[in-house]
Amino acid sequence: MREIKRIACVGAGYVGGPTMSVIAQKNPDITITVVDLNQSRIDAWNDPDLDNLPIYEPGLDAVVAEARGRNLFFSTDVDQAIEEADMIFISVNTPTKTYGKGKGQAADLKYIELCARQIARVAKNDKIVVEKSTLPVRTAAALKSILDNTGNGVNFHILSNPEFLAEGTAVPDLHNPDRVLIGGEDQEAIEALVQIYEAWVPRDRILTTNLWSSELSKLVANAFLAQRVSSINAISELCEVTGANVDEVSRAIGYDSRIGPKFLKASVGFGGSCFQKDILNLVYIARSYNLTAVADYWEQVILLNDHQKDRFAQKIIQTMYNTVNGKKIAFLGWAFKKDTNDTRESAAIYVADHLLDEEAEIVVYDPKVSAEQIYRDLDYLGTRSPAENRRLLTVVNEPREALTGAHAVAILTEWDEFKQYDWAEVKNGMKKPAFVFDGRKILNRKQLEGFGFQYYAIGE
Ligand code: UDX
Ligand code: ADP
Repeated sequence: MREIKRIACVGAGYVGGPTMSVIAQKNPDITITVVDLNQSRIDAWNDPDLDNLPIYEPGLDAVVAEARGRNLFFSTDVDQAIEEADMIFISVNTPTKTYGKGKGQAADLKYIELCARQIARVAKNDKIVVEKSTLPVRTAAALKSILDNTGNGVNFHILSNPEFLAEGTAVPDLHNPDRVLIGGEDQEAIEALVQIYEAWVPRDRILTTNLWSSELSKLVANAFLAQRVSSINAISELCEVTGANVDEVSRAIGYDSRIGPKFLKASVGFGGSCFQKDILNLVYIARSYNLTAVADYWEQVILLNDHQKDRFAQKIIQTMYNTVNGKKIAFLGWAFKKDTNDTRESAAIYVADHLLDEEAEIVVYDPKVSAEQIYRDLDYLGTRSPAENRRLLTVVNEPREALTGAHAVAILTEWDEFKQYDWAEVKNGMKKPAFVFDGRKILNRKQLEGFGFQYYAIGE
């Protein structure tokens, strides 16, 4: 039985950072080095002030405090970490391609390939290489081919070990996972990774499969979750025209134990780095095998999500007498969900873009997202010049600054603090009629209408 003493993890992002922190916390005898090319990210992971970690996750600071410097290290010396490691996790980013074949759909495997070539070049003894990033099915085969053909004659065993943590709950998800999935061909390599997880995960929750099932399961899990959100969002539109209430419908169907209550919360649309990317990936794979019906079926989940974001923006415009030109709209929230500073694919970006096209004046307040990030998100769309984005949209650090004098409030993220505001006072400071567009359904209609707001919530 192979004993793992040193682990390297390439990529110190939302997946690599928290995952390795917890593995290190639970396996004090294994030395783990997380490496990244991004010097400022590594500096932030090493910052003595735990408030400055590059990723905001409740509870992560305590885990890092326990393990960092003991058996958890963050570094930019990728070669050294690879050379010393018995097991290497690959947690680099795999964004959707923005060029060439598969543009807008396929996963961009450039970073994975560079990483594989680097491992092959540096490795001087046998290694277990673990795919942690979400990848298209059969990437392990490509990885193996690169490693075997460009390496120094050493043996590589590839495992797929997709991460199922959700942002905002990364630490509890890692501490108490529903399951850990390990795909591979080599029994000894699989067992080595099982042992690491067994330090805290019950054995019956560690599933082992072949490589391809593991890779595909990750895409399918995300596709199913996203499909539930799009399904309930489709029903939310129907509720609005029929007088049904989508929360009541969710509750009624969620009581059916075959359906279950989770992921049935109607919203302005799902975001995050995974759902859209993984479904696009699934669609791309299906199309590349000419499975048109399969591809069309899953693509619809994305199209409905786009429609939901669009519909929310349209609703704001229509309700405000078909013009938002020059009107101040307070955006509460920019992150794709609460308790994270991650904004990738956040619905807020697309809703804002739509309203800026109509020359609205947007003022954003988000408790965790920086102004730089918000402008980066908008500029990335390329809809208008950076100067124009900065003219029309401002970012503030105090909610009051966003709310005072606003014609409307749009809630884009379900941060708990938004529920605590003194909404009667907010109304007094706003232009009349004062509108609230609740894209997350976190406020109480009766109360808000009692204060004199015109209140719109998805699916009511
Ligand atoms: C997801 C998967 O849950 C996780 O297992 C995988 O590893 C990565 O992708 P994440 O993107 O972090 O995690 O967040 P998740 O909680 O799944 O939410 C995704 C999006 O769906 C968010 O924008 C959220 O607001 C939205 N959502 C979720 C809804 O609109 N309604 C719901 O009922 C649930
Ligand atoms: P995820 O959400 O999948 O964790 P992130 O973008 O948050 O994605 O993190 C991926 C990290 O991987 C980034 O910090 C990036 O700098 C790093 N990275 C990408 N390629 C390499 C590489 N070849 N060597 C080291 N780090 C890399």
